Amino acid sequence: RVTMRRNTLRCVNGVCSEELAKCWQRAALCLETMELQVLDHPLVEHKLTILRDKNTSSSTFRELVTELVTLEAYEATRNIAVVDKPIETPVAPMIGKAIAKPRPIIVPVLRAGLGMLDGMTRMLPSAEVGFLGMKRDEENPTQQITYANRLPDDLTGRQCFLIDPMLATGGTLVAATHYLADRGAKDVTAVCIIAAPEGIKYVEENIDPSIDFKVVVCGVDEGLNDKSYIVPGLGDAGDRLYGVI
Ligand code: URA
Repeated sequence: RVTMRRNTLRCVNGVCSEELAKCWQRAALCLETMELQVLDHPLVEHKLTILRDKNTSSSTFRELVTELVTLEAYEATRNIAVVDKPIETPVAPMIGKAIAKPRPIIVPVLRAGLGMLDGMTRMLPSAEVGFLGMKRDEENPTQQITYANRLPDDLTGRQCFLIDPMLATGGTLVAATHYLADRGAKDVTAVCIIAAPEGIKYVEENIDPSIDFKVVVCGVDEGLNDKSYIVPGLGDAGDRLYGVI
């Protein structure tokens, strides 16, 4: 399911920017069934442009990632489970809503995903946080190496939010989603900042269809270069957040 009707209409009316229109064209070309949400907001485009700029400092980069993720979290949590919660306002009793148990879990993929954690936890302070250390095998970019994990053994019934800024080849996202699914997760939302059409296609074709899976991104770029970096992208997200190590 492509959630793009509203955006397409806005583009037809000439309201959205040329870049956003291109973004949507790329998403539409590579997507058939997966649910992908591209944030369509001028503020997101503005912040993303500063983020991409190679002259932006690490501290500004980190701040912008937090702000963008906060905006993405609003969409990513649209279907979060809630229950009735009776309260009393100073004026009258009422039935409000509270996030249901078991608590949702946020899983940053180390290392770059850590840069998105603050934005997610600001919006979902009651969520638990797990960690998954996965990186692509540079010799073989679609293969993944898992080098760390700190996750509950049982994720049955948990809504999981995987955070990783760059959806490049899609290999890490598929491996990480299946890692959570192997522990019982059936509801996984990936929050990324930039995606490549190749990665979206790979994810769509390789994620176990029994998982309720969705991706939220701020932009869909042109494609990957021969080193599997997103073009134009923003470079190495981990290095830009934390420096070259
Ligand atoms: N990971 C990054 O940090 N950047 C890319 O462009 C692709 C993968």
